[in-house]
Amino acid sequence: MNKQLRKAVIAGNWKMNKTPAETTALINEIKPLVADADCEVIVCVPYIDLAAALEATKGSNIKVGAENCHWAASGAFTGEVSAPMLAACGVEYVITGHSERRTYFGDTDVTVHDRTRAALDNGLKVIVCVGEYLEQREQGVTMEVVRSQTKIALAGVSKEEMINSIIIAYEPVWAIGTGKTATAEQANEVNKAIRELVGELYDAETADKAVVQYGGSMNAANADELLAQPDVDGGLIGGASLKAPDFAAIVKAASK
Ligand code: PGA
Repeated sequence: MNKQLRKAVIAGNWKMNKTPAETTALINEIKPLVADADCEVIVCVPYIDLAAALEATKGSNIKVGAENCHWAASGAFTGEVSAPMLAACGVEYVITGHSERRTYFGDTDVTVHDRTRAALDNGLKVIVCVGEYLEQREQGVTMEVVRSQTKIALAGVSKEEMINSIIIAYEPVWAIGTGKTATAEQANEVNKAIRELVGELYDAETADKAVVQYGGSMNAANADELLAQPDVDGGLIGGASLKAPDFAAIVKAASK
């Protein structure tokens, strides 16, 4: 992290876990543990839990996000939720392009772009996920993959939106939920390349201000080392975000 240039952001991605009642309980457990955080704290929860999360986080420093949104404002898209719907509920953040969406639900670079655009157009802040599969890393095409995912997602995003409303999360797919974390050097190398790309697409000021997280088996034990890297500005946390003490320990590491 380089706290002179940008704010650290720790976001939980709860995935398909927790009922509304469990959401209230977990947030009530997390709240006092992160109350003095010197970083942004976000919990991204299933759609069905958003109302409970918004209620439970009222008056606290925890922000609430959704885990995806559709690109259209409304229409015949059974089972989907739109960005205007999320904004109307008071949700502040949304994740787009998570690898589980790309792998299991057919999200593509183009629909990730469209979802990101819809979110921005509705005043939401977006955590855009990018990352390579193990085969791609082994074939030596990590940078090409991550650059092209990022470039397509950011097409048409203004400099102002990039600085104020976009967080990029580098999540190597092979590290997600596997307990196999990227080394701090691997994480920093790709995060740095993403920042350089932002510099090419915008300018040096935007690159300096861009928040680039790492995600993939980040936990209480390895957060310090990962977050000590100059280009790792925070984390997108899956498994460890479901345990209040673990999530709080990561927030603490980002607050140093
Ligand atoms: P993990 O998930 O921390 O459980 O690896 C990270 C993510 O998918 O965002």
